[in-house]
Amino acid sequence: MQNELKQTKKRVFSGTRATGRLHLGNYLGAVKGYIELQNREDLECIYMAVDLHTITTPYDQKTLKQATRDIIMDYLAAGLDPEKSIITVQSLVPEHVYLAYLFSSVVSVAQMSHLPTFKDKVKQHPDNVTMALLNYPVLMAADILLYNTNLVPAGLDQEPHLEIAREIARKFNTRFGTNFPLPKRFETKGTYVPSLTGEGKMSKSVSGSSIELMDDLDTIKKKLAKVPTDGGRGEKVPATGGVANLLKMVELFQGEAKRQEAETAYVNNGLRYGDLKASLAEAIFAELQPIQARRKELEKNPDYVERVITDGARKAREIAKATLTEIMEKVGLSS
Ligand code: TYM
Repeated sequence: MQNELKQTKKRVFSGTRATGRLHLGNYLGAVKGYIELQNREDLECIYMAVDLHTITTPYDQKTLKQATRDIIMDYLAAGLDPEKSIITVQSLVPEHVYLAYLFSSVVSVAQMSHLPTFKDKVKQHPDNVTMALLNYPVLMAADILLYNTNLVPAGLDQEPHLEIAREIARKFNTRFGTNFPLPKRFETKGTYVPSLTGEGKMSKSVSGSSIELMDDLDTIKKKLAKVPTDGGRGEKVPATGGVANLLKMVELFQGEAKRQEAETAYVNNGLRYGDLKASLAEAIFAELQPIQARRKELEKNPDYVERVITDGARKAREIAKATLTEIMEKVGLSS
């Protein structure tokens, strides 16, 4: 393993793009996992706002910096602790880009252009099919492997990218004698949070699909009111669509027993969606309220947030530089 002398703990890396405020999918599928892992003594965790990934799709350069601060503040408000984790912004550690370039020498254009995640983005932004977009998974592999990461807390949608990271690690290990670990995804209970529209996953890019971490009770109620439902009664509980997605949210916020209760009502006397949505909204808000209160405090203290980012970048760079120096030597470059 690179940095063998320095590295005493297994490493964790994850990141979130600064494309909008965090929603329940990001929170349940990723951030809750970050928090769980930062509390384990045997792990060293690094969490970033990944702004270099953010610029692979159209963005506003005037608001990007604030958007990265918003991600960091949401992280801190949700419970990430700079005493336990390295928390920073990806572009402050330029070694990520360097390693991504080295990795790009073992990845074929054909493979990257056939990835479903790439094809989706091409459909969404046909005028923005750039080299940076094609290189997205390679940069992500660099994020992860630069820290010899073992565990990546991330949602199910990131699995294809993790597979690429493992493939690059294997190729590099075989070809250059590096010793990258093969990173595994760490899965939370909310690894796939469905969309409020009834179709697909909760996502920033689909309007009406998400509840944001900072939504108030009234907004949550209004958003849940729009989830498409049915008559509330039938032989079998639907496995897909609005009803299935609502029940998944009940399971995630109110527990398995509450979900069972709702399913039993559906196949017997009938399920009253008004009641179900009202109690679900309360349960979601109860979890979000303390996060929102902490976030308000953080907004009053931008200097503290900047300090977290600067300290985090310094610690991350120390590790990153050491790995990169070793890799450059193995690849045959002058380091
Ligand atoms: P991003 O910014 O799209 O999402 C951040 C995290 O939120 C998770 N997530 C979800 N989980 C469950 N259900 C959902 N509906 C849902 N929506 C989003 C994502 O899986 C992700 O964990 N490529 C990454 C960013 C990245 C990264 C990395 C992640 C860059 N480098 C290195 C891990 C390691 C992305 O676009 O995440």
